[in-house]
Amino acid sequence: MVSGIQPSGELHLGNYFGAIRQHLELHERYESYFFIVNYHALTTIHDREALRRYTFEAALTYLALGFKPEKAALFVQSDVPEVTELAWIFYNLVPVSTLEKGVAYKDKVAQGLPANAGLFNYPVLQAADILIYGGTLVPVGADQKQNIEICRDIAQRFNRTFCPPDRSLFPIPEPLIREEVAVVPGIDGRKMSKSYGNTIGIFDEGKTLRKKVMSIVTDSTPLEAPKDPERCNVFALIKLFADEETRNRIAEAYRRGGYGYGDAKKELIRLIDEHFAEARERRRELLKHPDYVMDVLREGARKGRRRAQEMMEQVRDLVGL
Ligand code: ADP
Ligand code: NA
Repeated sequence: MVSGIQPSGELHLGNYFGAIRQHLELHERYESYFFIVNYHALTTIHDREALRRYTFEAALTYLALGFKPEKAALFVQSDVPEVTELAWIFYNLVPVSTLEKGVAYKDKVAQGLPANAGLFNYPVLQAADILIYGGTLVPVGADQKQNIEICRDIAQRFNRTFCPPDRSLFPIPEPLIREEVAVVPGIDGRKMSKSYGNTIGIFDEGKTLRKKVMSIVTDSTPLEAPKDPERCNVFALIKLFADEETRNRIAEAYRRGGYGYGDAKKELIRLIDEHFAEARERRRELLKHPDYVMDVLREGARKGRRRAQEMMEQVRDLVGL
């Protein structure tokens, strides 16, 4: 299993429920490589301190949430620079027209943002990230379907072009998409996303958390009136955290009336505090031992790089480099 997480901003509840939780559930079961894709983050972040901070914070987040370094490799993408070499080889197999159809790339262009060549080629580097570890299983959100398709296409083209007829180097990876993973709404009701500035951070707590939760957009139904929980952003978040009993109790209170959105928000804060209590404690401990975090990343990189170098030896041989 391979998976990348982009250190381009604060990791939020959408990332947690949509991706990170699945990663953590799976990492003990498969030979897994998790990398913090700082080369990819360079497509949008040109601030040395920010890139370093987000990279370290991503590692801290995985470790605090229960990633077990003895079970899988966690490392920083640029500690395996071989991926950029493989990406270069792949560029020569990908039609420009394929990349021109890239949804993420087209979005940026449509928004009038500078579409740099890194952004254009993002899916190729992603393919290198997956294939260099011989990845077969890639847990992703539905929005990543297209990139995995491109990766599969690249693997097939490479095998066809450079491998003898009776042999192929790269297995064809499968995306692991959980269709039922809801889109987590942000505080403005749109999809929670760092590009919308509507996020609640995984490690927000105290005043910060309170301020964000209290500003979740709700309608103006008066406190006494019955409310439909299924149409409420606060309840959508409550559902992610609460066990069935709590969920039913709160849904009933909504429907009965006399239960305000303020009450629901307080309940949500309590649920978030409870859910992440242990992880926050671990994060505080880890913050006291940054050397430990760096050791984990170094050891992860050692494992990842060994695998990558073995693969690159074969690639170079097959290509004629
Ligand atoms: P962002 O939209 O904040 O930039 P990313 O694109 O970096 O987030 O997403 C990282 C992972 O988190 C992806 O697998 C994506 O599908 C998942 N994800 C992001 N936002 C949400 C959300 N609001 N609900 C569910 N999953 C999400
Ligand atoms: Na996204």
